Amino acid sequence: MVTIAVDGPSGSGKSSVSRAVAARLGLAYLDTGAMYRAATLWCVRTDVALDDADAVADAVRAMPLTSGLDPAAPTVSLDGTDVAAAIRTTEVSSTVSKVATNLEVRAELKRRQRAIIDDEATGGFSGGRGIVAEGRDITTVVAPDADARVLLTASEEARLRRRSLEVHGAADAAAVAATRDQVLRRDRDDSTVSQFLQASDGVVTIDSSELDLDQTVAAVLAVVEQVVPEA
Ligand code: DC
Repeated sequence: MVTIAVDGPSGSGKSSVSRAVAARLGLAYLDTGAMYRAATLWCVRTDVALDDADAVADAVRAMPLTSGLDPAAPTVSLDGTDVAAAIRTTEVSSTVSKVATNLEVRAELKRRQRAIIDDEATGGFSGGRGIVAEGRDITTVVAPDADARVLLTASEEARLRRRSLEVHGAADAAAVAATRDQVLRRDRDDSTVSQFLQASDGVVTIDSSELDLDQTVAAVLAVVEQVVPEA
């Protein structure tokens, strides 16, 4: 069994890359950012004020979240209802940092992420083959013991271009400008709790600025191959 941890800022391409790596190796795939987004949506839907840290933490501890781990079709459900689209709205994107910087929320989601990773070591979706988990603190906090740990970075320009394509379907100057504030503000807010822009000891940094998806996937697979040749 193998655990692969991938961290990186928004627009680094970590979700597409992690999904592709998981699919190639027959592993489960966990998008931990989707869990923070779902937690935010859950608070909004249950009328919990995002500024009330204790109420947010209580709500998240009671959150009926299910993460589907198939890299070909990952799912996120609240109370059995699919929320994949609802967690990608501008409202959630612009408020998720408030929830993600709540330390009690982080402890709860870390506990759930750890349980999922441990489950995949012996069974789960992958039948014990293992998992690719991606986020901001997977290499450092959630799975510092992972077999392979990668920090995926990209230049600010490349990240803004990718995010702009994802959100606006275009990467012209106006679309990039509209994305800029949100992406940079979120990176700054997020980095108050996890130093995800710098690799800690033993974490391999891959800069994807000049790489396309296939090349980045190949670079991650090369890292995995070195540490777990049998994966
Ligand atoms: O990767 P993303 O944009 O879907 O992440 C959503 C938010 O959750 C973002 O503000 C960073 C935060 N996050 C986090 O703090 N820790 C993680 N392991 C994953 C995401």
